[in-house]
Amino acid sequence: MQLTANIQSYNFDHVLLNAAGVMCQTTAEIDTVLASKHTGSVVTKSATLANRKGNPSPRYYELKNGLGTINSMGLPNEGFDYYMNYVATKATEKPIFFSIGGLSKSENINMLHQLQDSDFAGLIELNLSCPNVPGKPQTAYDFETTEEILTDVFSFFKKPLGVKLPPYFDIVHFDMIASILNKFPLAFVNTINSIGNGLVIDEATDTVVIKPKDGFGGIGGTLVKATALANVRALRQRLNEDIKIIGTGGVTTGRDVYEHILCGADLVEVGSQLAIEGIEVFERLENELREILTEKGYHSLAEVRGQLKVIS
Ligand code: DHB
Repeated sequence: MQLTANIQSYNFDHVLLNAAGVMCQTTAEIDTVLASKHTGSVVTKSATLANRKGNPSPRYYELKNGLGTINSMGLPNEGFDYYMNYVATKATEKPIFFSIGGLSKSENINMLHQLQDSDFAGLIELNLSCPNVPGKPQTAYDFETTEEILTDVFSFFKKPLGVKLPPYFDIVHFDMIASILNKFPLAFVNTINSIGNGLVIDEATDTVVIKPKDGFGGIGGTLVKATALANVRALRQRLNEDIKIIGTGGVTTGRDVYEHILCGADLVEVGSQLAIEGIEVFERLENELREILTEKGYHSLAEVRGQLKVIS
């Protein structure tokens, strides 16, 4: 059974990896994801130029009944140089996604210049969708600014670059973001980031469950699956063929992975469920996916990708 994928010249032997933010802040965590026999890659925690402690705790909470998670981490990370040093010294067969999430356009441009001038030979993910830094907007909800940033970036950047997008909820917005993204030689888009600024309340105490922003935080897991699938599908229908899609959001079973691929995902990321279940999640999901493919008589993911049926 072939569970492979590719983005440009990069080949992935497995379809799964972590979602940025989960199990990827320290070198030990990144190593753990890379070492799994059931991951095709790893994405590093979105880096800012300087290291950050992030928001005050509690800043992460698991909802009851497996509904998912809420978080407002606030970009805790070890700083750009730490991840640069990691990729410069790490020997691995798996292509690595280096995620950056600068607090301003100039910070992102600065990091991209350094990546451009370095020996880093993996892929770069520009995070345009962090909902959790107080006072900072989710960039990719501002279409004009998004186009401006990508124009500046691609004026000098030549390595394979993709963007991490927030979820969109309106057909017009799918059209608008796709028409902007199609103007650029993007290697991929990653959809979706968490659904920003949800609110979860503790039943016993009538209190919010996380401290930052008085309880507002990004929602992930089961609750976001339908939105994630819609974004993967809508973007696959609108983006140039050579822009690949990483499907992220609401993956807790092999069936969820399968549905992301049906909607057109090339790779699939696991966030909340990786945080909940740990590294073993990849083996379980891969086994469940294999079972579904076997039962349906498929021999590779390529036969499934984008093959979602509609009712005529
Ligand atoms: C954080 C959350 C995100 O969804 C993201 O894209 C980047 C950072 C965070 O809170 O750390």
